[in-house]
Amino acid sequence: MSEKSQPPAESGASTAGDAQRAGESVLELSHVDSGYGSVQVLDDCSLTLEAGEIVCLIGPNGAGKSTVLKTVFGMLTPWEGTVTYHGDDIGGVAPADIVREGIGYVPQTDNVFGSLTIEENLRMGGVARDDGLERVMTDLYDRFPLLDEKRTAKARTLSGGQRQVLAFARALVMEPDVLLIDEPSAGLAPNTAQEVFGHVEAVNEMDTAILMVEQNAKEGLGISDRGYVLDQGTVRFEDRADQLLDNEEVSQLYLGGV
Ligand SMILES: Nc1ncnc2c1ncn2[C@@H]1O[C@H](COP(=O)(O)OP(=O)(O)OP(=O)(O)O)[C@@H](O)[C@H]1O
Ligand SMILES: [Mg+2]
Repeated sequence: MSEKSQPPAESGASTAGDAQRAGESVLELSHVDSGYGSVQVLDDCSLTLEAGEIVCLIGPNGAGKSTVLKTVFGMLTPWEGTVTYHGDDIGGVAPADIVREGIGYVPQTDNVFGSLTIEENLRMGGVARDDGLERVMTDLYDRFPLLDEKRTAKARTLSGGQRQVLAFARALVMEPDVLLIDEPSAGLAPNTAQEVFGHVEAVNEMDTAILMVEQNAKEGLGISDRGYVLDQGTVRFEDRADQLLDNEEVSQLYLGGV
């Protein structure tokens, strides 16, 4: 299905500019088994993310959704199968190197440092940058005025939605071309969740392909191009997001039957 259509990045670093060509597979998991210690979670899991897409990963609690993101981000090494990024095998590459390659990760919890200021959080997000930090910081402050207004405030003083914006911005300091986001709307009131989804779309429009895990399946699929339903570590359904939302079986089994 997907082709290894891009040569490996010569310097080991990719930029958003060279990555985003529509229809190309940026990220691919192929027949991946993965887990914790001796506990297997992912079982023959395959999925792709193409340039410019938002792809939503849904499924019941414990299905292995977060484990997919952790396996891509190098927190877990695939036991079997491959994880490729622009055609390069990145299975087991350490997170610090994955970040330099151009993949960002926004975990569900503990995604900002509460005792640090907004500015400090953003600068920490950019420690692996060789240059251009000031330019990116200026750009992010322009893009997210609420962070600009609160540069010197401690992150713990932010509301849940504002914290999520800071977490996105922290990941964007590295100018990733792929962003992995774990349950961005978790614990947020519906209005705030909608705002956060709006930010996800805005980030996507900045030429960043997004692989997003979301419990809030209807809203998550609502802003996505494609979706996957994961259950017991295996992909049970994959389709265009609107088709998944219309799929009766998916609806009955995974969307509460509505
Ligand atoms: N650090 C860990 N050590 C051992 N088992 C773990 C660890 N983290 C997760 N698991 C187990 O792996 C399985 C999949 O977990 P995972 O967090 O990927 O699920 P999920 O689909 O993200 O679920 P949720 O919707 O609750 O976030 C679960 O059975 C979980 O208990
Ligand atoms: Mg999870």
